[in-house]
Amino acid sequence: MHLPIFQKKGVEVVKLDVSNVLAEEIGDNGLIFDEVERTAKRALSLVSEKKFEELDFLNLPKQDLKTLKKISEKARQFEYFIILGIGGSALGPKVILESLSPFHNLIKKPKVFICDNVDPTTLKHLIEFIDLKKTLINVISKSGSTIETLVSFLIFWRMIKERRLPVENHFVFTTDPEKGNLRRIAKEFNIPTLEIPKNVVGRYSVLSPVGLLLAETIGIKSEALLEGAKVTIKQALKENIRENPMAVLASCLYLMDILKKRKIVVFIPYSDRLKTLSEWFSQLWSESLGKDGKGTTPYPSIGTIDQHSQLQMWIEGPEDKIVVFLSVDMHGFQEEIPKEFHNIEGLSFLGGHTLEELINTEQLATEMALWMNKKPNMKIMIPKIDPFTIGQIFQFLQTTTIMAGMLYGVNPFNQPGVELGKRLTYGAMGKRGFESEGEEVKNYLKKKKTLI
Ligand code: PA5
Repeated sequence: MHLPIFQKKGVEVVKLDVSNVLAEEIGDNGLIFDEVERTAKRALSLVSEKKFEELDFLNLPKQDLKTLKKISEKARQFEYFIILGIGGSALGPKVILESLSPFHNLIKKPKVFICDNVDPTTLKHLIEFIDLKKTLINVISKSGSTIETLVSFLIFWRMIKERRLPVENHFVFTTDPEKGNLRRIAKEFNIPTLEIPKNVVGRYSVLSPVGLLLAETIGIKSEALLEGAKVTIKQALKENIRENPMAVLASCLYLMDILKKRKIVVFIPYSDRLKTLSEWFSQLWSESLGKDGKGTTPYPSIGTIDQHSQLQMWIEGPEDKIVVFLSVDMHGFQEEIPKEFHNIEGLSFLGGHTLEELINTEQLATEMALWMNKKPNMKIMIPKIDPFTIGQIFQFLQTTTIMAGMLYGVNPFNQPGVELGKRLTYGAMGKRGFESEGEEVKNYLKKKKTLI
């Protein structure tokens, strides 16, 4: 049985196919639809019960875009646009850049660089490549205290000052409306600043100025991204779960963990343009759900490449995975595969097909191979990659994650587990107030190691 396709008439919305997680398709490895439905309904009612203030990100489609548009006009005049940020303050912009403007730096201006690591070599090469006079630097940090972002900022700040360039012309901050180091510096040095709304947290902030300034700077209309999100938010509120793919996806992933011990979620879009979406989703899922010993581990993949590196494990390895495909109906390139070498069957059968046909057929064949081996898999389907669908898919995955968080009974908006590592780094780097963590690091280094 195939469930009715989840579709809103008149608008091309994201759809979900859950056939291949159901017991009637894959036997004992599968779920009973009634249970999926019950759990999806529970997820929905829990979301409306728990009044998390962080759900304010659902209001982002209504934001005022005036200041953002003005700053982006200025940004477009530069040759280079650099983003300094990490985690939720970098991965969303990366998805926007790579999905909506592939090969951007080879074709368009300003050239965009998103620096999320503090790898000294990366920074060195970037600094050698750009011309600071023609560079706008967008520092993105909600807290204004993230060490990696601040360090890269300090390096660029000093360089801008050494060249006697006006800092207010070369920096834009995207940060908390009131608090934090960046807000303080912005006030003192008159740096143009965009606000991340108070209750919007990092990994749910892509549709705030975090992602939208870059979008506008590279010529993508924020309105289209936000319209996609708006349509999806409406869908997420549907009580009829056959019209609510997010509640169903959350329910299936949760039940696959709890009932079937499927602890690894392989997320595999079939498009190079969505490679960073895999990374973005992995951060969203991990940081939101990995709490109190609960949650599942996301495995970011990309089709068709991971068919050649991972599929063997998915088909014949341990029974601990569920595969979530993301298929793209139209890739927008209809070039025919040439009909050459008529006398060599190994090549001639390909002639006349298209690359689009091939990538989509490979997705289908992989899905079928899993199904024939009774391995659970699901498919998120999008018609094409454009700002409207990317807005939808961001919202779709964010909402699914929150619903899963409700089912696990965890707070999907905090990340207490990453705090200790941050404190130890502060201590080791000599930040006031973190002296005891600094001592802990010293003692750790003195400990006897078993080196082989
Ligand atoms: O999702 C989150 O909250 C985190 O991943 C943050 O985005 C990340 O730690 C960066 O934080 P900030 O924007 O405060 O620099």
